[in-house]
Amino acid sequence: MEVLEAIRKRRSIRKYKGDPLPEDTFHRILEAGRLAPSGKNFQPWKFIVVRDERIKHQLAEASARQYFIAEAPIIIVACGFPEQSYARLGRYMSSWAVDVAIALQQMMLQATAEGVSTCWIGAFEEQEVKKILQVPEEVRVLGLTPLGYPAEDPPARPRKPLEQIISYDRYY
Ligand SMILES: Cc1cc2nc3c(=O)[nH]c(=O)nc-3n(C[C@H](O)[C@H](O)[C@H](O)COP(=O)(O)O)c2cc1C
Repeated sequence: MEVLEAIRKRRSIRKYKGDPLPEDTFHRILEAGRLAPSGKNFQPWKFIVVRDERIKHQLAEASARQYFIAEAPIIIVACGFPEQSYARLGRYMSSWAVDVAIALQQMMLQATAEGVSTCWIGAFEEQEVKKILQVPEEVRVLGLTPLGYPAEDPPARPRKPLEQIISYDRYY
């Protein structure tokens, strides 16, 4: 699948079939994240693959009770290492969240290309998620996504037109 085709096809899916993913499909999805760029190539990330039903349910509880995420056979929890990332992005911020987001999004696009669905989950209680998964204190949780075959086929959600989001040669 062409990149733009995958970008166009991706949707946030909030209903899943429980069918497992073939191992090679799953491996390609992880590989797409592994190959992501990062500030100074520090790769300040770790992705926790959760398949255990009880842990998936706990993660759904900790994610504003968004129980649909536990319907999927896998939940990926994207973690970042602020202390091991490029500290001076734009000279004002650490790059870890950007790095982890790029890697997770690459996984999500590869998933789309494989016919596997995802949904960025940002509404979660970080401390609860860390406790459930025994994440060390200095490691941060950026986001989660379910990974599974879709049980719904929603239409594309609206986006701003290009004219509104692009300017040329200066900001306007
Ligand atoms: C940082 C971030 C956090 C999000 N958090 C949630 C969430 O907690 N629950 C949810 O159902 N969708 C969540 N979404 C999905 C957005 O609602 C969705 O991407 C947006 O409405 C556009 O729809 P689309 O992804 O189908 O194009 C999140 C997306 C992003 C990028």
